[in-house]
Amino acid sequence: MSLLQIKQLSVGWAGQGAVLRELDLTIADGERVGLVGPNGAGKSSLFHAIAGILPPMAGTIRLLGQPVRPGAFHPDLALVFQHAEDQLFCPTLTEDVAFGARNLGLPEPEVQARVAQAIRACGLDGLEERPVHRLSGGEKRRACIAGALVMRPALMLLDEPSSALDLRSRRRLIALLSQMEQALLIASHDLEMLLELCPRVVLIDQGRICADGPAREVLGNHELMAAHGQEVPHSLTPHDWVSHDHDGAVRTAP
Ligand SMILES: Nc1ncnc2c1ncn2[C@@H]1O[C@H](COP(=O)(O)OP(=O)(O)OP(=O)(O)O)[C@@H](O)[C@H]1O
Ligand SMILES: [Mg+2]
Repeated sequence: MSLLQIKQLSVGWAGQGAVLRELDLTIADGERVGLVGPNGAGKSSLFHAIAGILPPMAGTIRLLGQPVRPGAFHPDLALVFQHAEDQLFCPTLTEDVAFGARNLGLPEPEVQARVAQAIRACGLDGLEERPVHRLSGGEKRRACIAGALVMRPALMLLDEPSSALDLRSRRRLIALLSQMEQALLIASHDLEMLLELCPRVVLIDQGRICADGPAREVLGNHELMAAHGQEVPHSLTPHDWVSHDHDGAVRTAP
């Protein structure tokens, strides 16, 4: 049985036509999939539909064989929103991170242990009692990720998780996600991050899947990428070694 099975999904926001059209997507347990596409392609809309926030106009979404019911809580699924302000709402960081774990009905000591672990994993130690609106942009983003981690869901949907992160936080995020056993669907314009994390990449444009395959094949296809307003990432573009020092050694041109 597939972890996530989407068939012929069409969705639209109120007052608009369809923003996703007849979309089919299957994700296996533990699989890591990158989702790329231009602004407005429908990546976040797809995440809202999978999370049951945006009801389908047509088609089906099944998680672990069960239909995703709009508005219902799905313990096997966690969405990290593109905009942290859409996700964070509790008075303090600790309470916000704990929300998902409490919703699972876990005993309080288990909630506390998971919260402490997620806060540490996301490098938020020392900010536990900080009101969420007084966190920096990058800290808010990491708080959202901690709030999803705490649920230990079978599938995590991460919408632009590396945006607003500094280099060290981005690196920490990549290390954290690369160790996770859960399935990840990651929407991002950070194609180098997707290359590191995701063996498979799905390209969408105007609400339709344009490519679905091995990350290096999809992201490395110049014609395909250009046709959808994308650029082949630097690491897949042939370049001379002087301009890109891969091993950290200091060299001078011959
Ligand atoms: N809350 C909303 N209400 C109405 N329309 C929306 C809403 N969110 C997105 N849309 C519209 O749906 C379409 C798809 O947007 P979506 O946010 O899914 O794109 P995206 O691929 O996530 O883009 P980006 O890379 O900019 O995040 C766009 O035309 C957008 O204007
Ligand atoms: Mg988006």
